[in-house]
Amino acid sequence: MGTTRLDKVRADFLTDLEQAGDDAEAVEKVRIKFAGRRSGLLLDLTAALRELPKEEKRDYGRALNELKTLINTKLAEVKVQANAATVATEPSSVDVTLPGTPVPRGAQHPVHIVRRRIEEIFLRMGYDVEAGPEAEDDWHNFEALNIPPDHPARDDQDTFYLPGGFLLRTHTSPVQARVMESRKPPIRIIVPGRVYRRDSDLRHSPMFHQIEGLLVDEGITFGNLKATLETFLHALFSDDVEVRLRPGYFPFTEPSAEVDISCIFCDRKGCGVCSGSGWIEILGSGMVDPRVFEAVGVDSERYTGFAFGLGLDRIAMLVYGIPDLRQLFAGDQRLTRQFA
Ligand code: FA5
Ligand code: MG
Repeated sequence: MGTTRLDKVRADFLTDLEQAGDDAEAVEKVRIKFAGRRSGLLLDLTAALRELPKEEKRDYGRALNELKTLINTKLAEVKVQANAATVATEPSSVDVTLPGTPVPRGAQHPVHIVRRRIEEIFLRMGYDVEAGPEAEDDWHNFEALNIPPDHPARDDQDTFYLPGGFLLRTHTSPVQARVMESRKPPIRIIVPGRVYRRDSDLRHSPMFHQIEGLLVDEGITFGNLKATLETFLHALFSDDVEVRLRPGYFPFTEPSAEVDISCIFCDRKGCGVCSGSGWIEILGSGMVDPRVFEAVGVDSERYTGFAFGLGLDRIAMLVYGIPDLRQLFAGDQRLTRQFA
């Protein structure tokens, strides 16, 4: 009995809506008649539910819900169509000949571009990319790397100290120690990341970026280090650059070497960028000191390895001819827009 009434309301609704067509006012009348919040037919039908005998309630309730959904969906559809029709027919509402709002084109930061290029070169050589914390402890940043508290090398890396015995890492080398503590050789990683020192001038910024490299396995020699760095630097710059190793000193490598490339601006004739020397210093490197292996629990009788560290920002300066390193971090979009 009850559901017959629902069927009739349903048929009436569809007819009324059909007749209203795309006349917005007529549609609104249909809406009020059936779904109006104060006196719509759906309200009556819902009230009628209470009067029904128990055994009819279930079927009626289900049919009523279907009817509600149908009415609301149809009304919503018609409304969307009506709105579209209004926009299309009222020229004042949208002027489709106006130019659109331009979306500014993003650009990658030059340091990021260089970082990605270097990562790709080492990924091709089978290295993994690792990361470590920027707020570091003294053990990983210094002690494990053979830099005890009274060591003069601490002065080269003027440190920002944090409360609770922590510090802002002064280089990416602590990640060497972390990785060797946590897994067995063979290890072949690079570690790009931010580092911090109390430094600020044309070539120094208090926050800058390094990429660390570490390879540990049986039978690794200085020859492997030299070949790896030459392959890397030729891939990064060009096959024509010359690579030169000079004796250097780092507490965590022995022997150590500073690595230069022939100046890419003057081809070794001498210019402002290379201060007339024809060479540009590009990274520090060496064979992992056995004392570091001992500190992190790697068997120094069985394994040898090499490590290197380079300043990413200095390379970006070189590649893109940026005169003041601090410009990289001034947040001036006129710089980055050039890389779009
Ligand atoms: C180190 O930090 C060593 N950890 C590198 C290393 C790793 C050597 C593994 C051996 C084995 P150094 O202090 O020289 O070394 O810094 C490395 C590079 O960081 C420098 O060559 C330079 O390119 C860059 N650099 C240093 N200080 C700054 C600074 N304030 N701003 C920008 N770049 C800097
Ligand atoms: Mg140095």
